[in-house]
Amino acid sequence: MKLGTALSNSATKALLLGSGELGKELVISLQRYGVEVIAVDRYPDAPAMHVAHRSHVIDMTDGEAVKKIIALETPDYIIPEIEAIATDALAEIEQEGHSTIVPNARAIQLTMNREGIRTLAAERLQLPTSAYTFAESFAELKHAVEQKIGYPCFVKPTMSSSGKGQSMVKSPEELEAAWNYAKVSGRVDTGKVIVESKIDFDFEITLLTVRALNPNGEIETRFCEPIGHRQEHGDYRESWQPQPMAPAAIGAAQQIALKVTGAIGGRGLFGVELFVKGDHVWFSEVSPRPHDTGMATMITQQQNEFELHARAILGLPVDTRLLRVGASAVILSQTEADDVVYEGLDAALNVPDSEIRLFGKPRALVNRRMGVALASAETIEEATQKAVKAASLVSINAKQ
Ligand SMILES: Nc1ncnc2c1ncn2[C@@H]1O[C@H](COP(=O)(O)OP(=O)(O)O)[C@@H](O)[C@H]1O
Ligand SMILES: [Mg+2]
Repeated sequence: MKLGTALSNSATKALLLGSGELGKELVISLQRYGVEVIAVDRYPDAPAMHVAHRSHVIDMTDGEAVKKIIALETPDYIIPEIEAIATDALAEIEQEGHSTIVPNARAIQLTMNREGIRTLAAERLQLPTSAYTFAESFAELKHAVEQKIGYPCFVKPTMSSSGKGQSMVKSPEELEAAWNYAKVSGRVDTGKVIVESKIDFDFEITLLTVRALNPNGEIETRFCEPIGHRQEHGDYRESWQPQPMAPAAIGAAQQIALKVTGAIGGRGLFGVELFVKGDHVWFSEVSPRPHDTGMATMITQQQNEFELHARAILGLPVDTRLLRVGASAVILSQTEADDVVYEGLDAALNVPDSEIRLFGKPRALVNRRMGVALASAETIEEATQKAVKAASLVSINAKQ
C-alpha cells in the first residue's frame, strides 16, 4: 500500500463527483492522508470545494463533460457522491483501467435507478422487501395497486432521491395525484414509477457496512452499530446510534447487508436502509457511499463514516467501533438567502456535549440542509433531544 504527496508528481489523486456536505467531510478525511483532492459539482463554491485542492464546475449528467475532466485530472480514484451522474461515461472510464470508480461503475448504475437495485435485491438475491411493481402508465399503476399492492402504498419515480416525487397513497382518490407528482418530479423521466406496499415497521435503520481490506489483503465486511432515524417528507430530520434491536433482527440486518454489498462489490462504505419490526427486517435501498443519517458517526464512532470510506478506498484498515451514544439533527433553512449569516451558534454550543457543522453552502433555500448539530449523552433519547435543541438555536438569515 503506497500513497504519494499531494501537488507533486507522486500524488495519489481522488476526484469527487458531487461536492455536498458528505463530500466535504470525505475530503477532510482524504486530506489527512495527503491525498490530492479535486471536487466537482454543477455549481461553484459547493461545500467540498471549500476544502479540496481545486475544483471544477460541470454538468455531471453530461458524459462528455465528465470524460473531459477525468482526462484532464487523471485521478486514481473517482468517487461519486450523488446519484445524478452520467453512468455510461463511468463504465467507459472503468474499462480503460486508469482510474478506480468507487466502489465500481456497476454499483453506481444499479443504485441510481430504483429498478436496478430493487430487482437485484428482491429477485436475484431473494431478500425480503415490500411488495412492489413498476408502472409505465396510470392505468398500469392503478391495476397494480388494485390487484397486488393495496393501500396504503408508496409511489416513487424510479430515479429520484431525498423523497423527491414520492407520495404515500392511502386511498384510490389520491392515486392519480401521486402518479402525476412522480412523473414531473423525477430526476430524469424514465417513464416509470415504482409502487411499493407500505411496510408497517417499528423503526427504520441505516446499517453502515464497510468492505475494506483485512491484514491479509482480502476484502472483509464490517458493520457499524445500527443507526435509527426519523424521516419527514422523505428527508431525514434526526438520527441516533446505537438503535437498540433484538439480536435476531441484528443478525438478519447484517445478513441482508452482507448479501447486497457483496453482490455490488468493490471497496468502500455503504448505507444499507432497512425497515425493522420485531425480529423481521426488510431491505429498502442502499447507497454505495456515506449516508446522510450516518452524520451521527461524527460524534459516536472512533472512525466516522467518512474516515471509514476514505480508508476502505485507499486500502487501509478500518475500525467500526462505537465510542459513545450520540445523535444528529439537521439544520434546515427557513428562508431563501444569498450571503448567508448564521446566528445563535454560541447558544447552540452551550448545549452540553454538542457540536455544530456548517456546510458553507453559498445559497440558502427553504428547507435546504445548511448544517447539522451533533450531541452525545447517556441515552439515544437524551442525545437526540440535545441535538434537536442545538439545531433549533441556529438561525439562518441573509446579511443585512
Ligand atoms: N415501502 C415503504 N414502507 C414504509 N415506508 C416507506 C416505504 N418506502 C419509503 N418509505 C419511507 O420514506 C422514506 C424515503 O424513502 P426511500 O425509498 O428511502 O427514498 P429516497 O431514495 O428518496 O431516500 C423511507 O426512509 C421511509 O421512511
Ligand atoms: Mg432513502
